Order: sequence, then structure tokens, then C-alpha cells
Amino acid sequence: MNVATAKLKPAPRQSLSVVEAPLDDLERRRELGQFFTSPEVAGFIWDLLEVIHGRRFSADTRLIDPACGEGVFLRVARERGGLPAKNLFGADIDATLDSGWQRDPLLRGANVHLVNGLLDDPTSGIEAGTFNIAAGNPPFSGKGLRDLLRLLEESETARHEEQDFFEAACLREEPPSPRQPLSRQERAELERMVRTLSQYSCWRLETEPEPDEEAEAESASAPTELFAASVLCDRRRPTASDLEQAAQLIARWAPNRPLDTSRPEIRDTIRRLASTAIEVMFTERFVRLAKPGGLIALIVPESIVASDRLGRFRIWLLGKMDLLASISLPQKVFTGVGANAKTSIVFARRLAQDRVNGWYSPEALAKLPDDDQPIFMAAPRVDAPGFTVENYLARVLADARRDREIFWPTPK
Ligand SMILES: C[S@@+](CC[C@H](N)C(=O)[O-])C[C@H]1O[C@@H](n2cnc3c(N)ncnc32)[C@H](O)[C@@H]1O
Repeated sequence: MNVATAKLKPAPRQSLSVVEAPLDDLERRRELGQFFTSPEVAGFIWDLLEVIHGRRFSADTRLIDPACGEGVFLRVARERGGLPAKNLFGADIDATLDSGWQRDPLLRGANVHLVNGLLDDPTSGIEAGTFNIAAGNPPFSGKGLRDLLRLLEESETARHEEQDFFEAACLREEPPSPRQPLSRQERAELERMVRTLSQYSCWRLETEPEPDEEAEAESASAPTELFAASVLCDRRRPTASDLEQAAQLIARWAPNRPLDTSRPEIRDTIRRLASTAIEVMFTERFVRLAKPGGLIALIVPESIVASDRLGRFRIWLLGKMDLLASISLPQKVFTGVGANAKTSIVFARRLAQDRVNGWYSPEALAKLPDDDQPIFMAAPRVDAPGFTVENYLARVLADARRDREIFWPTPK
């Protein structure tokens, strides 16, 4: 694919595009990966979506932010885009947000719910593949999916000498500290997460760090059959097909039968899911939520666009969507709310049909046409005199409007 870069000349004026948070609340919000997007940045994202679309979105456009926080992306869609509240969907797990949603006149009539945004919730109208726009800023870091490990606590003592098959490859968790046993409802909720998230692809695509030589030597002498009770000391790395089999096993597990967490492949799947970064899971979720042809706009930390470990996941993503634009944000956009991540806004379109497996092979890449659609890219020059976030974003938008036919040509 060709990459064209939009050059940006920042203009003078100083101000900060951040939403301030009270200090005493920061710890709880860090756990949730909760750093709200400013209305300026959300407004920019909405405006660029309209530029890419080539016109205003029609009133029947359905938009979702599956980790919506206070609902800033729903608000801009209502205020700037005039979308009816009934077509706006949001999910968040932070119960303290609910009263704010109730009071907000822009969210009156919108479908904002206290539910896990990684899971479908048909009663709220939240289902994969049904949205024209999936836009937002998913949680980064925080405690992520670590609660899933609680499913392993109860059988932990019984198997204290047992070794997990994937031990060398997956997260090395401290043994969980004893807590209240899970209630039936908590267990059911966590199991539902494991059943759903094990069908995602991202957790199986992350490249493992190179094991140290010692582990390598051990694995060379270990038996090769994975998932068999007789090979508990097997420390070889799971292959893609081992992980696929584990996902299939869970997919086939009878809905009315609790998952058997004494089975090594189930334990290890849970560990892997728990150690997958929440932003990686949410990136996949945004793509899943968009319907074919739907637009995706999300703020991601640098790791999603650059980390070597996520190379295979990026290829998977590009088998499902066309990348349309990537706009780097200055670090200070989120520093005011306690986050220091370097972030980018990624714009993409869900493909009508997924690219077939292997589209990225050298042979397939060689066959890509030279005039493949260019990607609009921008990066701030924060050291330029008088740099401000507002002027940077205004400049990006002006460039995008000027060059829209180059990057997102109107279909003939
Ligand atoms: C980075 S904040 C962004 C909020 C909002 N999208 C914005 O841009 O202002 C991420 C939000 O995700 C929420 N969150 C964390 N885990 C979640 C989950 N599993 N399902 C739904 N929301 C979640 C947090 O409570 C937080 O409000």
C-alpha cells in the first residue's frame, strides 16, 4: 500500500486540549483505564469522519462507542452531526457514570448502558456487525481483564504443584491472593467473558517474547503432545493451531455446563485472555461492531500501530478493514488526566468481504496494484513555536478537506 503524508504547519496560540480530573479520583480511573477525550478531539474525529464520508451522515446512521465514558462521542454525533438519540449507543462498566448520563440533555433517549462493551447485549441493541460508525477511545492499561483469573482461584490450591502447558509462553501471574469465593452470578459473568473473548482472534495472534535459553532447552526435551494429561511438564510454546483448538473446545462447551477450569487448555486460555492488553481486545471489538462498509475511528496507544508483538494482529485487522487515515496526537492530549500514552487516531472502513487468509503473503503483496489507495497520515510538530493541539487538528482537517478526493474519492 502507498502511504502519503500530509505535512502540517502548526500555527501560533497556546492552550491545552484536556479534560481535568480531580486527583483523588485518579487511582480508581486508572484501574478502569479511564481517560476521557476532550470535546475538541471528539469533535475533530466527527468532522474527519464526515470528510471521509463525503457528506453529512443520514439520520438512520447507527453509532456506537463500546467504552463510552461520559459519552463525548455520542454527544458530538448528536450536536454536530444531528443524529437522533435513538441511534446512539454507548456501553461502560463504571457505575458512577450513570447519573451523569441521566442528567445530560444530549444523551436523553440515547442507548447508554452499564454493560461490558466487549460483549454483545442484544436487549440494548448492541450487536456485532450492526453499526455504521464505531468511534471512541477504548481503555488503555488499567486492570484490563485480570478479573478473569478469579475463575482459576478455586482450583489453584488443588493443583499447586501442577505446571501449565503454556507456562513458558503466557503471563506468569502471581498466585491470586485468597478472596471471597465467587458468587454464582460473578462466576457466570466471568465465564460468559471467557466464552465470548476466546472467540476473538487477537489473543491468539500476539507474538510471544523470545524465551530464554533455559526454557528453550527444557522444551526441546519435553514431549510434544499438547493438552494431554500425561504431559504436564510440557513447556513448549503453543502453536497457532493449539490455541485455535482451545478456542474451538470452548466454543463447543455446552452452555449449561460450567467450564472445567481443571483442564490445562482452558486454564491457559483464561491466562492468555487475562494477559491480553485491554486496548488490543477493544481494537478488535470496534472492528467487529462495524457493519460491512461501516467506519471505525478510534484512539489507540502507539503499541497498536507500532509494536512488533502485534504485527500479526495488525495483519489480521487489515484483512477485515481498509486503513483510511492515521493521525498522531501529541502526548499532552491525555497528560492532564493522568495518562502519558503516546496515541494516534486510526480511521478505517470495515470491508464488505474479509480478505482471504494469506492476502499478506509475498506473492499476494506483489500482486497489489501500484495505485492502491493512499493513506492520509499526520504527525504533530510539538516543538514548533506556538504549537497548540487545536491549531494542529484544525490544520489536519483543512488538509483532509482539500485532499479528500485523493484519499477518499467519491465512488463513480
Ligand atoms: C479511555 S476511557 C474513554 C471514555 C470515552 N470513550 C471517551 O473517549 O471519553 C475508557 C472507558 O472505558 C471504560 N471501560 C473499561 N473497561 C470496559 C469494559 N469492559 N466495557 C465497557 N467500558 C469499559 C472505562 O470505565 C472508561 O470510561
